[in-house]
Amino acid sequence: MPSPPPTGLKHNRLIVGMTGATGVIYGVVAMQYLRTLGIETHLIKSKWAHATIKYETSYSVADVAALATGRSWPIRDMAAPMSSGSWKSDGMLIAPCSMKTLAAIRAGYSEDLISRAADVCIKERRPLVLVVRETPLSAIHLENMLALAKLGVIIFPAVPAFYTRPKGLDDIVNHSVARMLDCFGIETDGLMPAEGRWEGFRP
Ligand SMILES: Cc1cc2nc3c(=O)[nH]c(=O)nc-3n(C[C@H](O)[C@H](O)[C@H](O)COP(=O)(O)O)c2cc1C
Ligand SMILES: *[C@@H]1O[C@H](CO)[C@@H](O)[C@H](O)[C@H]1NC(C)=O
Repeated sequence: MPSPPPTGLKHNRLIVGMTGATGVIYGVVAMQYLRTLGIETHLIKSKWAHATIKYETSYSVADVAALATGRSWPIRDMAAPMSSGSWKSDGMLIAPCSMKTLAAIRAGYSEDLISRAADVCIKERRPLVLVVRETPLSAIHLENMLALAKLGVIIFPAVPAFYTRPKGLDDIVNHSVARMLDCFGIETDGLMPAEGRWEGFRP
C-alpha cells in the first residue's frame, strides 16, 4: 500500500487563485511553500493579479506561473478541470481575494475560472479560503463575507499578528501564510516563525 502524502491532504492537490487585491506576495509565498512540500498546485491568476505581481513584487508573471507544480491555467479557460466537481482537489486558496471576486463568488456569478473553481468548491463542500483584502470595509463587503462564512467558506483577512515580534515583512507574510495553510491541515513548520503559535504569556 502506498503511504499517504505527508502533507495532511487527501489528494495532495490544491487550487490557488490570485486576484487584483494588494498583497499578491501572500499567494506567491504560499505557492513557493506548497512546492517545497511537493503538493500539486494549480494556479489561476486574474488580469489584475498580473498587474500587482509586476507592481508589488520582484517576480515576473512567468516566474509566478512557474511556481505551479501542476499547471497554471488561463483565467478564461472555462474548460479547465477545476471547472468541474468531478475533478478532485483538496480545495482552493484565493490569496489575495479582491472584493470583486468575493462578490462574484457570493453571487454564484462564475464568469471566470477563479470564481467558477470557488463555486465548485462550495457546492462540493471542499475547503475554500479567501484571503480578502480591503480597508475600510463597506456593508456590501461585510454582507458578502458573512453570507459565505455561513456556508463554511473561511474568510481569512490578511491581518498580521504582532505577538511574534516580527522583524520585517517576510516574518509577517510567512506567519500569515502559515495560518492560511493551517486551514487546510497542511504542515506549516517551515513557515511558522518562533512564537508563531500562541502558548500563553511566558514568564
Ligand atoms: C495596485 C492595486 C491595488 C488594489 N488593491 C485592492 C484591494 O486591496 N482590494 C480590492 O478589493 N481591490 C483592489 N484593487 C482593485 C481590483 O484590482 C479591481 O477591483 C479588479 O477589478 C479586481 O478584479 P479581479 O478580482 O478579477 O482580480 C486594487 C487595484 C490595484 C491596481
Ligand atoms: C519564510 O519561509 C521560507 C520558506 O520556509 C523560508 O525559506 C524563509 O527563511 C522564511 N523567512 C523568514 C524571514 O523567516
